[in-house]
Amino acid sequence: MIAQKDRYLDGKVCLVTGATSGIGKETARVLAHQGGTVILVGRNPEKTVATVEELKREADTPNIEYLLADLSSQDEIRRLAEAFKNRHNRLDVLVNNAGGYFLWRQESVDGIEMSFALNHLGYFLLTNLLLDVIKASAPARIINVSSGSHLRATLDFDELQERRGFSGMNAYGQSKLANVLFTYELARRLDGTGVTVNALHPGFVATNMGSNIGWIVRAFRPLMNLWAISVEEGAETVIYLATSPEVEGITGKYFFRCKPVSSSAYSYDEAAAKQLWAVSEEMTGMSQIPNP
Ligand SMILES: NC(=O)c1ccc[n+]([C@@H]2O[C@H](COP(=O)([O-])OP(=O)(O)OC[C@H]3O[C@@H](n4cnc5c(N)ncnc54)[C@H](OP(=O)(O)O)[C@@H]3O)[C@@H](O)[C@H]2O)c1
Repeated sequence: MIAQKDRYLDGKVCLVTGATSGIGKETARVLAHQGGTVILVGRNPEKTVATVEELKREADTPNIEYLLADLSSQDEIRRLAEAFKNRHNRLDVLVNNAGGYFLWRQESVDGIEMSFALNHLGYFLLTNLLLDVIKASAPARIINVSSGSHLRATLDFDELQERRGFSGMNAYGQSKLANVLFTYELARRLDGTGVTVNALHPGFVATNMGSNIGWIVRAFRPLMNLWAISVEEGAETVIYLATSPEVEGITGKYFFRCKPVSSSAYSYDEAAAKQLWAVSEEMTGMSQIPNP
């Protein structure tokens, strides 16, 4: 049982995407232990309900809920945001974490390359749709789980969807670079609102990441995991950014092992961040809605 003094999230509402597995599930577990009302976002009803039941038993709290959405679908993200707002009038912590690695080119239901649709536009659209309630809850925090894979990436705005020659590694790196550019641009737009937004690299973590690719990854997963850190360690920086008083007011940074570190040189390109924002608005239809 967690000591009363460590219940940093008493009275606070937290939404965690990708909360049925890996880093997101561990994050949801600890946020619930720290007293938060935690809403898990999952895409598979049975798995999501089972995760909620497991975490409720462990944290000995009824304050764990769930919402369902395939976050590669813009319609489902819109329904998710609406369902959240129907139930809650505050959001203190948003953790954008759901993500995937796609070895072959796939398209979302909206006809967008899947890594970009899920890993970047999923974060962009959900955050923007929830921004009014997040701002009304200030001081509030947004945390974007990125990856060190962004370090080798650049954005080719003519080829964001990788139609000519697809590489899973490029598409993933590009989407994770987009997480960092989005974080920095959103931090600039939220200046003075009391809402902070930070990105992070969790490290190489022993999760289910990549198991959708097929039997090769599933077969080699135990071997790969010999080099990986545990899920508990992988979630540490997310939880730190969600709860620690040390990062109160800190915004627009990229963290690794609970410390702000430099992201790639390209990620600091403000013109690229603005262009990405405009393209993302266009691709999600958010240009109809006033900017934060
Ligand atoms: N593991 C690493 O080494 C590593 C390194 C750097 C960054 N990251 C980042 O960490 C984040 C979490 O990944 P993880 O390693 O914890 O992987 P994971 O164990 O595979 O968890 C991914 C989570 O995202 C959910 N998800 C996947 N596609 C979805 C969709 N279309 N709609 C809704 N939810 C979806 C999964 O749901 P299901 O349970 O239904 O599959 C799962 O809950 C990702 O953003 C990833 O890029 C991971």
